[in-house]
Amino acid sequence: MKILFVTHSFNSLAQRLFCELTQRGHVLSIEFDISDSVTEEAVALFEPDLLIAPFLKRAIPESVWSQLPCFVVHPGIPGDRGPSALDWAILRGLNEWGVTVLQAEAEMDAGPIWASAIFPIATARKASLYRNQVTEAAVRAVLQAVDRFASGDFVPQRVPGEAHALMKQSDRAIDWLTDPAALVLAKLNAADGFPGVADELFGQPCHLFDAWPETTLTGLPGELICRRETAICRATVDGAVWIGHAKPVGGIKLPVTMAFPETLLLPEQPLADYWRSPTATWQDIAYEEAGGVGFLSFEFYNGAMSTAQCCRLKEAFLWAAKRPTKVIVLRGGSDFWSNGIHLNTIEAAESPADESWANINAIDDLAEAILRCETHMTVAAVGGNTGAGGCFLARAADFVWVRDGVMLNPHYKNMGNLFGSEFWTYLLPPRVGEDGAKAIMRHRLPMTASESVALGFYDACLPGQGFAVDVARRAAELASARDVDQRLAAKRAKRQADEAIKPLAAYRGVELQEMRRNFYGFDPSYHVARYHFVSRSPHSWTPRHLARHRDIDWKVSQ
Ligand code: COA
Repeated sequence: MKILFVTHSFNSLAQRLFCELTQRGHVLSIEFDISDSVTEEAVALFEPDLLIAPFLKRAIPESVWSQLPCFVVHPGIPGDRGPSALDWAILRGLNEWGVTVLQAEAEMDAGPIWASAIFPIATARKASLYRNQVTEAAVRAVLQAVDRFASGDFVPQRVPGEAHALMKQSDRAIDWLTDPAALVLAKLNAADGFPGVADELFGQPCHLFDAWPETTLTGLPGELICRRETAICRATVDGAVWIGHAKPVGGIKLPVTMAFPETLLLPEQPLADYWRSPTATWQDIAYEEAGGVGFLSFEFYNGAMSTAQCCRLKEAFLWAAKRPTKVIVLRGGSDFWSNGIHLNTIEAAESPADESWANINAIDDLAEAILRCETHMTVAAVGGNTGAGGCFLARAADFVWVRDGVMLNPHYKNMGNLFGSEFWTYLLPPRVGEDGAKAIMRHRLPMTASESVALGFYDACLPGQGFAVDVARRAAELASARDVDQRLAAKRAKRQADEAIKPLAAYRGVELQEMRRNFYGFDPSYHVARYHFVSRSPHSWTPRHLARHRDIDWKVSQ
């Protein structure tokens, strides 16, 4: 079938559905929801059999849904209607929720239902729920809906329901003098990603994001107790919570210590035991050990890795490499493994060009530390979505094991034609060939976990269920294998041989020369693209590689 996606953005859910439907032989094209006339034009150009709206913020025009079946992916159970569906489900403390695929009609979310799927609410953070459980349920429901539509004999049913209101900031407001920590966490979690909870810090209005529990620190309700690295701890009536990110009014979302430099005057509260904490607290880098394996997690918000975070992670990695273990597993965070350099902290820097340069060097230093590690076998366990430099940073490990369902975006070009670094020019060609490396970089489209392994880019695609357990078992087997010392010796020999042919510094030098041009050169594309990305500017057009119906060459080839 020819399926047109009309979507607010090509977000991870839309990317996943795009890949799943393409793999099943459907022909897809994408148009961003810019205006009714643009959607009408896309329908006229592409002449689809079906329109799917994976992520919409406004209604599909009647001129379209009255002519063409339009499936809307609604993040709610059958009968649920209206905005803020996930926010209400989280704030009400529901254990289970769902995704419904319904046909667009005049009344929002009230059309006949083609399919639905339910999921347990395993995490309370809205953005995390959306990227994981909602996405998996949406894949099941959309595939079923498309099959039913194709069969031609399914009659979608209407379900009675009632629309809930848009959740307002007054519904989300935190009363620091009376709300217990669990309620504060629920309110912040229900707003995570977007829009955050409107609050104040140092008398200035802002939105708060990225809440973490705290079990030992206390203070007067509402008091800012302390900070740790980039987060602050604020007392509630019965304990405290950590806040990692804030967005001042008119500004961009930043680590809270950067958004509010006043927080740097708060007392620093380091973790009691280097990288380890026995109780729940804010901790963006965490280390644990089991079965001869060291597991290094880095829960960096949105997978973005600032200069300071890259430096600290390198420090943690080098420390882990001194432990009496044989394998280090780089686990990333629960939602993202890494999305490369931190575009928000770069945007907020006095000189974004200088900060871009510092950040790319810091992430390269980290990649180099992994590449030069002689004492351990290294594994990147990619359990969360990964983009741009993060995809190549993972490849610096000896093995990359990726969870089925993860979306990868191993290319830089979408960010103003960045050349990219992280040693991709060294790491990619031996795995996928020179032409393969160029194709990956040019492709600009998402890649599934299984595709990455089929291409030879990553090493193994492990089932989504039980990924962490599977990784731990495999890593323990690697650590206890009889030939682990021979493997380490072979790894050292290979690195020396490669170094003799062309030193790592030479690869890095060539990549960074190009990046220097991106950061400091005449063409401002990267700075413009970054500005729009961090400002979440609405799209004003759909890139040609997505809107294939606008590509004359593609149309001719059909
Ligand atoms: N720096 C800062 N923030 C980043 C980021 C980065 N490198 N990558 C993602 N984010 C943020 C987004 O701004 C968004 O923020 P929000 O909390 O305000 O919603 C959040 O992470 C989720 O990103 P989103 O684009 O909505 O997620 P997605 O899963 O739909 O798409 C990517 C994932 C990786 C395709 C997309 O985020 C992207 O292109 N990131 C930029 C990667 C990049 O170019 N890095 C620099 C070169 S190394």
